[in-house]
Order: sequence, then structure tokens, then C-alpha cells
Amino acid sequence: MQHARIIGTGSYVPDNIMTNDDLAEIVDTSDEWISSRTGIKERRISKGESTSEMAYYAALKAIENANISAMDLDLIICATITPDSFMPSVACMVQERLGAKKAAAFDLSAACTGMIYAMVTSAMFIENGVYQKILVIGAETLSKVLNWNDRSTCVLFGDGAGAVVMSVSQSSRGGMIAHHLFSDGEKQSYLTLPSITLKNPYVQPETTDVPYILMKGQEVFKYAVRSIADNIKLLLSKAKMEKEDIQYIITHQANFRIIEHAAKISDISLDKFYVNLERYGNTSAASIGIALDEMNRKEIISAGDKIILVGFGGGMTSGAILMEWA
Ligand code: UT7
Repeated sequence: MQHARIIGTGSYVPDNIMTNDDLAEIVDTSDEWISSRTGIKERRISKGESTSEMAYYAALKAIENANISAMDLDLIICATITPDSFMPSVACMVQERLGAKKAAAFDLSAACTGMIYAMVTSAMFIENGVYQKILVIGAETLSKVLNWNDRSTCVLFGDGAGAVVMSVSQSSRGGMIAHHLFSDGEKQSYLTLPSITLKNPYVQPETTDVPYILMKGQEVFKYAVRSIADNIKLLLSKAKMEKEDIQYIITHQANFRIIEHAAKISDISLDKFYVNLERYGNTSAASIGIALDEMNRKEIISAGDKIILVGFGGGMTSGAILMEWA
């Protein structure tokens, strides 16, 4: 069977930095509380960039890094829960801006696990010989769905986009070795972001839902720690590998304490977990792509390294990919 592999990465975050001290001027919080409970020091907040714009900028960099042209793309998948519009999709907007005329394009919704869901979906098309080159993007403007009066949520999130170009692995080495996706709809109330309330000639709601992120923080925390540990264990067993075989683990960047706990119960050195959430906060579907792009450009990862990507988030959803960097 042919493997899907990453041949280029890109990312984009807004220039505007909002520090914890800046937030303390908006809500009743402090740098001390946010830093000690989450590890987050600052985040990027859009001063006008839309999700599709950030997705486009990240995509451009990924395409350049992959050394291909937009016309080579067969498919564009964008993972997002904060699209510019219900229709058209962010992926179609990016396709137009890139001039990727041959590519099919669609959005995918799996909250903070979106990048993992999109990469696994992309791998299915590649492994089955349907498509050769796929652009996968995770992009979010979470700042537009935050209640900026709710200190329990608004301090956690940030805006940004990450992208990868995936293609067929030309050698026996490199590419995706194992992956898995989970969903648990029974826990959907842990993390929610309501949509438009039904209102038509037959239904006149008394109240309308507020389109803000709502969260049961401690439930999400426990789910996240368990998900990271379970996903790592499952993928190691699927790939018939030991944790010692893995050089790096990139989890969804939500909270440093989540990563710390997961490392501890997995009995894996914290040094193997890449962390950049102190600079970006939680960027949902964008976080894993941004982290991967940083590691690639800083040449932290090199050919032959085994890497696990793990996502978790609303739905609830989780999932992971074990790959060899080529
Ligand atoms: O992609 C997944 C997205 N979600 C997550 O990753 C969230 C996972 N959960 C968490 O990271 C943690 O549960 C939080 C960081 C959100 C909260 O930490 P916690 O240790 O679970 O705090 P808590 O909710 O139990 O709140 C403790 C106290 C409360 O005050 P009282 O009742 O003890 O007086 C909160 O009102 O901290 C208060 N609090 C804050 N204080 C200052 C909550 N948010 C803040 C804040 N600044 N921003």
C-alpha cells in the first residue's frame, strides 16, 4: 500500500499580540492566574484577518515549502469551526485565491481535532490512489466566537492557521504509519458553540442562542489528558512500536498542564512533547499545523524521526497520527 506523507508545511498568525496583562484590562484575571493554570502568556488576535485570509496565507507558505504549484493540487480540505460563512466554504475561498483550478475543495468540522481528521481523510484519498497532492489547512478566528466578558474562556484561545501539503510517499520510508479517529457524542455538552436558532413561519423561539464558546473546563481537561494517553498507546500498538521509538509528540495546544499530566501517565519524557501554546494560546484546528510548521522550519525534526500528532476537542472528538518524517 502507498503511504501518504507531508511534503510541505506553512502557517500564519495575525501580527497583533494580546498578552495576559492586556486581558487583565478587559476581564477580572491576571497573568499569574492564566500562566499558572494554562501556561499561556500571549495569543494572536485578528485585527481584521478572516479565517479564509489566514488559511490562504498559511496555504501559500505550505505550497512554496512543498515546491509545487497551486495548479498541482487535486483537493483542498480546510478544518475549521469558525468559517467566514456557511457558504461558500473556506476551502473554496482558498481555492479561488490560490488559483488551484483543478482542486476539489471542502470544509471539515471536528473542532480542535480538525487537523487530524482532515489529514486522515486526505491520507485515505492518497492511499487509495484517488488524488496525488492535497492541501490540508486548519484555520480559526476564535476571537469572533468568544464571550469577552467570560474570563473562564476568553483567556484560553487565539487566532491563526496551519497548513500541510500531503502527497504519495515515493520511498519505503516516510509517511503515515498508523492513525485513528474517535468521537464521543455523549460528551457533546463539554464544549459547545451554538449556531443560528431555528426561526421560521412555524417556529418563533423565545430566546436565541448566543454564538459563543461554552465549556465545562474540568471535564474537558480530564477528557484531554485521557485522550492523549489513550491515543498514544493505541497508535504505538497499531504500529508495533515502543514509546522509545518516538522522537516527538505534537498534541493539540490547549493547556500546558494537560500535556504535563498526559506525559506523566504515559510515562513519556515531557521533553518529547513540543509546546508553543505560551505564544499562541489554543488555536483549535490550527494548533497542530502551526506547531508542525515551526518544527519543520526550525529544523527540529529530521528525516527518519517518528512523530505522533494527537488532537482532542469538541464533539467530543480525538484522534492521532503516527508518521515518519521524510
Ligand atoms: O481545546 C479544548 C479547549 N478547552 C480546554 O483545553 C480547557 C480544559 N480545561 C482547563 O484548561 C481548565 O479547566 C481551565 C484552565 C479552563 C480552568 O482551570 P481550573 O483549575 O479547572 O479552574 P476552575 O474552573 O476550577 O476555576 C477556579 C477558580 C474559580 O474561582 P473560585 O470559584 O474558586 O473562586 C474561577 O472563577 O478560578 C476562577 N477563574 C479565574 N480567575 C482568574 C476562572 N477563570 C479565571 C481567570 N482568571 N481567567
